[in-house]
Amino acid sequence: MSGAAAFSMLREMRADGLNVLLAARRSTKSFAATSLQVGELDRLLSAVFGVAPDGRRSYGSAHARYPVTATVVVGDVRGLASGSYRITGSGGLQEPEYGDQRELIAQSTIDAHWAASCPALLVLSANVGAERAEFASQAEGRGERFIAIEVGLIAQTVHLVAAGLDLGTVLIAGVQDEAARRLPESIVPPGDELLAVMPLGRATRDSTAASG
Ligand SMILES: Cc1cc2nc3c(=O)[nH]c(=O)nc-3n(C[C@H](O)[C@H](O)[C@H](O)COP(=O)(O)O)c2cc1C
Repeated sequence: MSGAAAFSMLREMRADGLNVLLAARRSTKSFAATSLQVGELDRLLSAVFGVAPDGRRSYGSAHARYPVTATVVVGDVRGLASGSYRITGSGGLQEPEYGDQRELIAQSTIDAHWAASCPALLVLSANVGAERAEFASQAEGRGERFIAIEVGLIAQTVHLVAAGLDLGTVLIAGVQDEAARRLPESIVPPGDELLAVMPLGRATRDSTAASG
């Protein structure tokens, strides 16, 4: 096979792989009562949030500011103590605040109280005021819009990587602002607002997406 033919085959295989993930993507709102493995969580977080040596990331950010903070709240991950872990720039985990805080987060959503029993919850937050100020010269509300777009990029990437690992997730953006403001700093850093929660775990076999 010529080099050009091999390259073209490789390109088709990659496109096929993406199509398989896109076809598999769906929202999971019913999770099996089985633990996640620390290796699964690590693969997912490093694929989504890791930064390559040349600076490339899996998603873009206006002015390359990357304002979205990611925190993973662990409750049932084999090999990892329950706690709230901030995700570092390389997709690794910082020292946690120990303790199971899933219930607090679940109660900060409008219709996803069931999330309290998912093995782990990925929490996305950002300092909305700082982004509003950064992009004020473009238009009023532009910073908020850019954050929402970035959360969408992150969420779809989480969905696709989770699909590749045979894990389930869903973007929960319906949050109760008042309850969210009371979340501890270990979950939402000072100055940040809770934007979304993405439960991570294994879908039950008959799980289907409900509206929400
Ligand atoms: C911006 C956004 C916000 C969402 N917020 C919630 C939510 O608060 N609660 C919920 O149960 N599902 C939420 N979802 C998931 C939707 O219910 C789900 O995407 C929709 O039913 C379509 O199903 P699918 O993702 O499997 O295609 C949200 C999805 C998006 C894109």
